[in-house]
Formats: sequence, structure tokens, C-alpha cells
Amino acid sequence: MKAKAASDHSDALVFFGATGDLARRKIYPALQAMCKRGHLEVPVIGVARSGYSLDQFKAHVRDSLRQHGGVDEAGFETLQGLLRYVDGDYTQAATFGALRKALDKARRPMHYLAIPPSMFVNVVEQLGTAGCADAGARVVVEKPFGRDRESARALNRVLLETFDEKGIFRIDHYLGKSPVHNLLHFRFANALFEPFWNRHHVRSVQITMAEDFGVQGRGAFYDRIGTVRDVVENHLFQLLTNLAMEAPVRMDSETVRDEKVKVLKAVRTMTADDIVRGQFDGYLDEAGVAARSQTETFAALRLHVDSWRWKGVPFFIRAGKHLPVTCTEVLVRLRRTPSVYSAGEDMPNHVRLRIGPDICIALGMDVVSPEDEGLSLSTELMACRSPSSGEVDAYERLLGDAMHGDATLFAREDYIDEAWRIVDPLLRKPPPVHRYAPGTWGPDAAAAMAPPSGWHDPVP
Ligand code: BG6
Repeated sequence: MKAKAASDHSDALVFFGATGDLARRKIYPALQAMCKRGHLEVPVIGVARSGYSLDQFKAHVRDSLRQHGGVDEAGFETLQGLLRYVDGDYTQAATFGALRKALDKARRPMHYLAIPPSMFVNVVEQLGTAGCADAGARVVVEKPFGRDRESARALNRVLLETFDEKGIFRIDHYLGKSPVHNLLHFRFANALFEPFWNRHHVRSVQITMAEDFGVQGRGAFYDRIGTVRDVVENHLFQLLTNLAMEAPVRMDSETVRDEKVKVLKAVRTMTADDIVRGQFDGYLDEAGVAARSQTETFAALRLHVDSWRWKGVPFFIRAGKHLPVTCTEVLVRLRRTPSVYSAGEDMPNHVRLRIGPDICIALGMDVVSPEDEGLSLSTELMACRSPSSGEVDAYERLLGDAMHGDATLFAREDYIDEAWRIVDPLLRKPPPVHRYAPGTWGPDAAAAMAPPSGWHDPVP
């Protein structure tokens, strides 16, 4: 974490949706970890409408931690000393009056909106009216940011009426994952990769985000969203930009984010021919899902990055629920050498980057088979590790960065606008969904969108 002047630091953390799912699963474990490391010393104010007293709220936080990651007694002790609670309806001015009171002397709070997007506008306006968003205040907005380009622009206008761009943090927890943001370090700190990381040597790039579970009780939310909005235009586009961007000339947030926006600007607007959508059998029986829902739970997409570095190299993205494994992996396939030594057509060299659950960098190469020297063999030189429990997790990193005012790992307004521009036509006129059986790699039709040499299916 970069050292910052204390005056840059948020002097309170407020989170709306304090009894919600995101808070339980992700935010409390992150706050406890920050306390444990001594990185959190300001009041933490939960806002929700549950009728809790402060003691009941603390018990709720403890219970959430017990279920998600475990209670660390020392970390929790510090956290509970910082906890405050405001009970109330987000549509009522009185709730925000009570929040202003709970903020006490804090003037630069950071407000985390861990609530459904339909409530953002109202909460932001009320924060402004109640004097909770004076100069130096920050707001963290969860993804997806809007539903399409137009609604994202409208949401942005609302945010900018109350906060300035420097105070708006559009969170995408994928960017907080160390293997995702370390991709830039991997690419730009190693002389080995730069010479072939371009259209002259790369044949195709594919990204797979597979999950072996379904919508996990989030049917009502998911059915309004679908795979493209849930993970493609945010998480997987972030991976794509980290894979495809040019080296920033400085490390400051705007220079890094400029380079990312340039990648998206080079990505062609997609059409219905660039996507195959799927829906797993049984999705329609999930609670909260419309009877005849056409929402996709799987998407396979082909993208064109028309930049100097990448023009002509196809990029592929595949994501879905109820696939055979849970794994996010990138495969960069290289062109074959003209050599008489190299193996069959299907064995070009590759770089394989596993983002999760374990972290792997693998270089795929041809070698002589030790059993039969007349044969060549495809093998991988591999460095792998499993994340340890003591590592900084995505939410912990992002909350800390936002409180310090470091926006490097957050999406800027122009980035969001370009991301929606790319997928907007698909969302407006989506092609029909194809059925697939849970536990398979999506509908057969996804083969039509496969990279040259086919999809690479990650194995656990
Ligand atoms: C969330 C999506 O943003 O990311 C979920 O809404 C998805 O549908 C999740 O399962 C995946 O994140 P992670 O960190 O568990 O890989």
C-alpha cells in the first residue's frame, strides 16, 4: 500500500446494506483482517433496516464472521470497538440525519453502497442533503455499474452531482485479486515476455471463468443481470485489459487507467454473431427466476482488439455457472515455429495463467519424449501456489486503497462507458439461449465460438 498523507485518509467507513449478503460474506472478513493488521482505526458505521440494537449488530457481525472465514479474537475485538449502527429506511431523511449524528466529527467518510443498484440514486442524493458528502467524502459503488451504457451514464451524472470523480470508487473485486493486478507486474517486470506478447507471435487469447455452482439463492438478482453483466463486462474485461494494455509510463492511478481505457477503445463493438448464450437446465426452477426467463447463465464471446499490438489476434471469453470446475484461467496460444522439430498441429506453445482458486504461471513447450526420442511431447514448465490464509484478500485491498484515495484498482468513468459500448448491442438484442446440462462445458453451440485449436478446459 502506498504511503499517503493522513489528510487523504477517510475518517469513517459507512456501509449501507450492513445486514446483507455481501457484507456478511466479504466486507466483515475484510474489516476484521484490516483490524488485525492495524490498518483500520476509524469508526465503522453499518446502516440497515433490521431493527437491531448496536449489541445485536455486533452479534450479527460476529456470527457472519463465524460462518465466513472465522472469528479472529484480536481482530474482532478491535473491530467491535469501532462498530456503530444506524437503523433505518434508505428512503427516509431521518435515517441520514441519524447517520450524520453517528458520524460525529468525521468529515471525510467513505460510504460503501453494498445495496441493490436500484437504491443507489436515492441514497446518494440523501447523503448530499444530510451533509454526509462534503468535500473529501468518498463513495464506493458495487458492480454492475448500471445495466447498460445509458443507465451507467445516468448513474454517473447522479454521483457527480454529489461527489467529484476523485471521490467515486467503482469497485470490481476482481481487480483486488493479487493474480489479476499482478499480471501487470508479471508482464512488465520480465524481459522474457515482452518480445512475443503481440500479434506477431500470439495466435489467440482465451479467458475462461468457470463455476461449478449455480446462482446460490441469488435467482432474483441474477435473472435481471445474466452472465454478461455479472462477470463479463466487468471482471473479465479487467482481465482482458491487463493482458492487452501497454506498459504505463508512470505508476500513478490515472496513467495506469489511461492505458486500460485505450485497450477498450480498441475493442470492436460486438454484434449478436460474437456471442453464444446458454442457460443450464433447472435454472427456471430457481427461486426468483421468471417462468420463461431468457437470461443467460453461460456466455462464450469472441472479441477483436484493433490495437497496434493486437490487431488480427482473436480474444475469446467464456464464463458460466454449473460448469464442470470452479476455475479462472487465461491461455495465450503462440504461433508455431516453422521448424521440422515441432510436434503436431495441436501443440503450439502457450502461456497459461491461472487466476484462481490456485495461482499458476505455466509455459507450454515441446520437448523430446524421454521414452521415444522420435516423438516430441507437449509439457509445461510451471510455478503454482495456493493462496495462504494470511494473504490480503481482494476486498481488504480495495477497501484499504479506497480509504487512502488510491483509485488505481477501480474503474474510471470512461472505462465503464467503453465497456458498456462494447456489449450494449448484445444486451439490447440478445440471441436466444441454448440449454446445457449442469456439469458440462456449456451448450454445444459454444463450439461455434471456439478459438483456433479449440477451447482449453481448465482442470482442477
Ligand atoms: C461476483 C458475481 O461478482 O463474482 C458472482 O456476482 C460470481 O456471480 C463471483 O460467482 C465470483 O467471484 P470470486 O471471487 O468468488 O471468483
